[in-house]
Amino acid sequence: MRNDLRATVSGLRESEERYRRSIDSANDAIFAVDPVTLEILHANRKAAEVTGTADVAGHPFLDLHPTDHRARAREFLARVAAAGEGTLSDIDLCCHGGTRLPVSISASMIVHGAGRFVQLICRDLSERKRMERELVQAEKLSTVGVLAAGILHELNTPLAYVQANLESMGRVVRALPKGPATSALRTGLSDALEGARSASTIVRDLRIFARSRDEATETFDVNDAVRMALRMAQHELKYRATVMAELGEVPHVLGQATDLSQVFLNLLVNAAHAIPAGNVRQNRVHVVTEVVGDRAVARISDTGGGIPSEALPRIFEPFFTTKPEGVGTGLGLAISRDILRRIGGDIRVETKIGAGTTFIVELPLAAS
Ligand SMILES: Nc1ncnc2c1ncn2[C@@H]1O[C@H](COP(=O)(O)OP(=O)(O)OP(=O)(O)O)[C@@H](O)[C@H]1O
Ligand SMILES: [Mg+2]
Repeated sequence: MRNDLRATVSGLRESEERYRRSIDSANDAIFAVDPVTLEILHANRKAAEVTGTADVAGHPFLDLHPTDHRARAREFLARVAAAGEGTLSDIDLCCHGGTRLPVSISASMIVHGAGRFVQLICRDLSERKRMERELVQAEKLSTVGVLAAGILHELNTPLAYVQANLESMGRVVRALPKGPATSALRTGLSDALEGARSASTIVRDLRIFARSRDEATETFDVNDAVRMALRMAQHELKYRATVMAELGEVPHVLGQATDLSQVFLNLLVNAAHAIPAGNVRQNRVHVVTEVVGDRAVARISDTGGGIPSEALPRIFEPFFTTKPEGVGTGLGLAISRDILRRIGGDIRVETKIGAGTTFIVELPLAAS
C-alpha cells in the first residue's frame, strides 16, 4: 500500500515536472493567475523575458498592463472566471524598458487538486502588426504608381503641343528682322523649348518606368538602362556630385530594360543621398559597365559616407531604411535584388566608412 502511494506521488511529481518544462520552453508568455486575488502564481521563462522581471510570482497580474488597458484586462479575467475560458485579441503588456508589447491572450480555467487558477497564454503580435503596417505602405505605393502613370499619360499631350507651338514660333521669329527685341524673343523661345523638351524626356522615361511589366523575356542594352536612370536621377545628383560614366561595349543582357533602370535609378539616388549637397567638384558618382567572363557587370560607386557595419547586414531587407520618413521606404535594394535574382543576376556591395560605397550589379549575357 505504502509502495503504491509512493509510486503514485512520484508519478505525479514527474508529470508536474514535465508540464512545467513544456510550459517553460513555450514561445508564448504563459501566466498562472489566481482568479480571486488576480495575483500571479507562476510565469514561464518567456514571461520573465517579456516583462523583464525574473520572478513575477506574487505580483498583481493587472500591473503588467499599462494603466489605460487595465480595466479591459480586469473585465476579461472576470469573464474567464465565469465562463471557464476566453480570448482577447489585442491588448498591451508593459515590457522591459517601458515599451508596450501588443499581445493576444487565450485563457482557460484550470482545476488543479483542490484549487483552481487561470492560465493565460499571451502571444506576441508585434511582428504581425509590423507586417500589416508594411502591407498598407506597399499598397499605398502601388496606388501612387498607378496614379502617376495616369498623370504622366495626361501630361504627354499638352507637352507635345507646347513643344510643337514653340517650334513653329521659333521659325516665325527667325524670319523677323534682327534687332534687340527679336534677339530677346529668340533666346526666350529657345530656353522655353529646351525646358519643354526636357520635360517630355522626363515624362517619357517615367511612363516607360511606370508601365506594368509583362513576363515575356526581352533582351536589352545595359548601357541604355544606365543612361535612362542617369537622366532620371540627374536632379538628385547635380547638387551633390560630379557624375562620371564609363560605359563599355557590353552585349545585350536578358531581362526587362525598365526593371533594370529601376535598379540603377535606386542605386544612383542612394549614392546621391549618401553625399551631402554642396561639394559637387569634390564628390564623385562613378558608373562603369563592362563584361567580366560571361556576365555584364555594372559598378555604381560614390564618395559618400559609407554604410556603418551595424546597418550593412540589413540593407537588402525590405523596409530597412535610415532615411527620414517621406524620403525613403527601404524598398529600393530589396526590390533591386529581387529583380536581379529573377533574371539570374545578383548584386553585391563594398563599402568603407568615410570613403564611399560601390554596388556591383551582375547580369547574365543573352545568348547571341
Ligand atoms: N550608397 C549608399 N551609401 C550609404 N548608405 C546606403 C547606400 N545605399 C544604400 N544605403 C543604406 O541602405 C538603406 C536601404 O537602401 P534602400 O535603397 O533599400 O532604401 P532607401 O533608399 O532607404 O529607400 P527607398 O529606396 O525605398 O526610397 C538606406 O536607407 C541607407 O541606409
Ligand atoms: Mg533607395
